[in-house]
Formats: sequence, structure tokens, C-alpha cells
Amino acid sequence: MISVGIIGGSGYTGKKLLQFCNAHPFVDRIKIYANSTAGEKISSIFPDMVNAIEDDVIQSVSNLSLDNDLYFTALPHGEALYYVPLLISHGKKVIDLGGDYRLDSAEDYVAWYKLKHTSPGLLKSKLYGLADNCNANYDDYNLIANPGCYPTATLLSLLPFTSNFNNEIVSVSTVAYSGTSGAGKSPKAELLMSEMDGNVRAYNVNNHRHQPEILQQLQKNGFNSSFAFTTHLLPISVGIYTTTVIHLKNKIDVELINQVYNTEYSSSSFVRLRNEPPNLNWVVGTNFCDINISVKDKVVVITSAIDNLIKGAAGQAIQNMNKFYNWDEKLGLINSGVQYAQVY
Ligand SMILES: NC(=O)c1ccc[n+]([C@@H]2O[C@H](COP(=O)([O-])OP(=O)(O)OC[C@H]3O[C@@H](n4cnc5c(N)ncnc54)[C@H](OP(=O)(O)O)[C@@H]3O)[C@@H](O)[C@H]2O)c1
Repeated sequence: MISVGIIGGSGYTGKKLLQFCNAHPFVDRIKIYANSTAGEKISSIFPDMVNAIEDDVIQSVSNLSLDNDLYFTALPHGEALYYVPLLISHGKKVIDLGGDYRLDSAEDYVAWYKLKHTSPGLLKSKLYGLADNCNANYDDYNLIANPGCYPTATLLSLLPFTSNFNNEIVSVSTVAYSGTSGAGKSPKAELLMSEMDGNVRAYNVNNHRHQPEILQQLQKNGFNSSFAFTTHLLPISVGIYTTTVIHLKNKIDVELINQVYNTEYSSSSFVRLRNEPPNLNWVVGTNFCDINISVKDKVVVITSAIDNLIKGAAGQAIQNMNKFYNWDEKLGLINSGVQYAQVY
């Protein structure tokens, strides 16, 4: 049994962490920390969770105690820098859901997050926890940088291809779509229903923070072609959909590509290879990533779909916690051993 602290437990991903931890057979105590909501009950923030959590008063993060075994940080970027080094120095395990520890270089962090990194040593010693595509020994790490939501959907669908057919690639372009919960719960005028209903728009074109994160992981696996990444907002609250187009030097047989993906994900509990492009509503409320591959002449099109708050955040973080403790990676993410958890 372990006890868990959730720092940022009153936010969108924090709520999912709470729900998963509450259902987890090996988590026996949960402490919730936040900022402006400190002192309130979690059931007053999330009325659907009335009586769900035993100790449900939100603590102020300025009184962070060190009596939990593992901490999740689910904070706006820059904020985890105040807590993660302290927790690590006290021998705690930490899974950070934000972007503060995902990039390997402090210079890249300044360039993309416009902040000086105050614990650059941890950028080198952390594990980038793309749970379904990570063969690292978790025993060697104390800090896991949980991948971003777009990088999770993009990398799970693209890494097997770039790692195996790198020399055949001319260029890669990923067009990605997200629901508005990807931006968190703090109010933003451009996310009002009156702005988003019936609307779609590209944003942060050629300038999205998840682009260097994706490229970093692709390049670690030998990728050296051009990569374009274009994000769009959809008038829905939850879900991420990516369509990646790869131009090749020579045609590759689709059977060969499918074989690579089948081998890569043969033991994965949460990646499902589909023989048609996935629908978003097949994955919303679950920790699955659904992927389809289509080939015509020298063009490969790969589509993928995830729930941004679960597979793209809290669900993958629970999977990483399970791997941290060498438990079955599905623990807490399934109901009654049969039905995958639907937390909406
Ligand atoms: N939303 C997604 O789909 C998604 C997916 C993957 C990763 N992420 C990343 O996960 C992190 C959390 O995202 P989210 O969507 O859950 O955000 P959110 O809904 O805005 O929640 C933010 C949480 O952080 C707390 N907080 C805000 N300012 C703080 C401060 N100065 N000190 C301490 N706590 C503070 C808030 O507490 P109060 O409510 O008390 O103010 C709240 O609990 C972000 O880094 C985000 O990029 C999000």
C-alpha cells in the first residue's frame, strides 16, 4: 500500500487522478493540494464526488507535507519547479503531468516556456514516461515526466514507423485536434462556448510547445527528416485526434508496416491497432490509444485518438505509477477486471 499526494488536485487532470487513485487497490491514502481552492472540500469543487474521498479537504500547497510516498504534480507550467526538487531531495517518487521536466535541455525550456529552469539536473535524470513505448527500468528513476497529451497521441502512432523506416522518410506532417479541456479549467475568453460552438481553428501554428517535445523523442530514435506539427481546437470538451502524413522515398508494403506495429504493441494493454481510422468516441473515458495505418503509393497516413485527460494525462500517470512499483500496469484503470474504467 502507498499514500499519494496530488498537487493540483482541484484541476481537470487532478480530478481524474483523484478518481483513479480512489479506485486503486494499492493506494490507501490520498492528500489533495491546491492553491486558490485551499480549505474547500473537494466535493464543493466537484459535486459529483460527494462522499467519494475520505480526507477531502484541499490543503494549501504552501503547507506541503512530506508524509506521502508518491506525489503527482498537475500544475500550470513553471509551478512544479517549486515542489519537485524538494520532493525528490526527500526521497519521494514524483510524476509530473506538466511540461516542466519533459524537455532534456534547460535552453530549450527557456526558449519554449519563457522561464529559467531552476533544477536542470533533473531534466537529465528524469524518465520521459511514454508508458506504452518505454522499456526503461523504472527502478532507476525517481522522477517521471508524464508526456503531453498531443505528444502521447502523436508519438504512440508515429514512433514505431520512424524507428523502423527512418531511411525511407522524406517528411512527416502531423495535424492534431483537441477539445477545450486541454487548456485546463481557468477561464479564457477564446474558449467560451459562444466562441467555440460550431467553430474550429488552428492555433500556435509552427509555435506549439509540444512540437519540440515530440521532435526530441523522435530524434532520440534516429529521426532526421522535416517534421511539421499543426494543432487545432475542436468545439468539444474532451479528446485528441491526430492525422499524420508521411511522404516516402519508396513505397513500403502495408503488411510490413502492420507487422512492425503489431510487434511493438503485442504486449501493450492500452494501444489498439484498428483496421479503419478510429473514432474519438471509441476512446473518450478510457486509457486507450487507438491507431490506424493506411498506405497508398509513397504516402502513409496514420490516425490516432486518445482521451486527453486520461491517456494524455492522468490515466498514463497511473500507468506510470504502476510501472514505478512493478505492479500490473492496468491496476486502477480497470473495473472489476473486465470493463475498462469509464470515469465520465
Ligand atoms: N488538460 C489536459 O488535457 C492536460 C493534458 C496533459 C497534461 N496537462 C498538464 O497538466 C497540468 C495541469 O493541467 P490541468 O488541465 O489539470 O490544469 P487546471 O485544470 O487549470 O488545474 C490546475 C491546478 O493547479 C493548481 N494551481 C494553479 N496555480 C497554482 C499555483 N500557483 N500553485 C499551486 N497550485 C496551483 C490549481 O489549484 P486551484 O484550483 O486551487 O487554483 C489546480 O488544482 C498542466 O501543466 C497541463 O499542461 C494537461
